[in-house]
Amino acid sequence: MLLQGRVALVTGASKGIGRAIAERFAHEGAALVLNARSDSVDGVAEGIRAAGGSATVVRGDIADAAVVKQCIQACRSTHGRLDVLVNNAGAMPQAMLGMISLADARALFELNVIATINLTQFAARAMKSGGSIINISSIARAGLPGASVYSATKGAVASFTLAAAKELGPRGIRVNALAPGFIDTDLTRDTKAEVRQRTLAGIRLGRIGSATEVAGSALFLASDLSSYVTGQVLGVDGGMMV
Ligand SMILES: NC(=O)c1ccc[n+]([C@@H]2O[C@H](COP(=O)([O-])OP(=O)(O)OC[C@H]3O[C@@H](n4cnc5c(N)ncnc54)[C@H](OP(=O)(O)O)[C@@H]3O)[C@@H](O)[C@H]2O)c1
Repeated sequence: MLLQGRVALVTGASKGIGRAIAERFAHEGAALVLNARSDSVDGVAEGIRAAGGSATVVRGDIADAAVVKQCIQACRSTHGRLDVLVNNAGAMPQAMLGMISLADARALFELNVIATINLTQFAARAMKSGGSIINISSIARAGLPGASVYSATKGAVASFTLAAAKELGPRGIRVNALAPGFIDTDLTRDTKAEVRQRTLAGIRLGRIGSATEVAGSALFLASDLSSYVTGQVLGVDGGMMV
């Protein structure tokens, strides 16, 4: 049990990558505080409890600063500590340049970037005996046509990770990011067949990844297996960047 006795907060845990991370962490003994907007996150928590684990839910929009505070408060009041934060909640709306609404762009930065910064600040204060913060960037940080705003948010998450690792390292808090490639979740399910084929052709392992494969890498970064790893952006992309 790699996370026995640890408390982990996972945002965007109702489905996809966040759900897989929450379930994997619970399997490894972590007590979970889970966030998402929809009530499916309650079902994820119930499943974890039914399997003998511990899971508390804070429902709400993580771009809302009040929800961020509630998440941290839940860690403190239920468990008296926080060891692992996974800034996973995110969205990938698409729009070609010339068609981008600035209101939509600002809203995406609020969710994908500002919420990560806000939660990291509060979490770092709550991590009294060190900890691990895992941000979810994306292969899109290298530039995804049709998703330039999303690409910019994920580049920002990667840069933020590097700076936060430098600031928080002296306090024993490791900060790393995962940069998933093409992972089979609701986020990618509507990808046009032609784009899917083109993307597949660039994946050295020749297949799309699964949320559980991303969760495996998150487990590595959350646990002591990576006790000397900080300030890294780990590609989980089947070799798209090599
Ligand atoms: N799938 C990929 O290929 C891929 C690749 C690279 C990076 N990523 C990143 O991985 C992360 C997870 O993506 P995914 O593929 O698992 O997507 P997904 O299946 O669409 O799941 C997104 C999760 O985020 C939650 N969420 C969305 N907006 C939220 C908000 N305002 N407040 C709180 N929770 C919110 C959703 O729950 P509710 O709707 O219930 O709120 C859901 O649990 C994202 O940051 C994404 O950018 C994904």
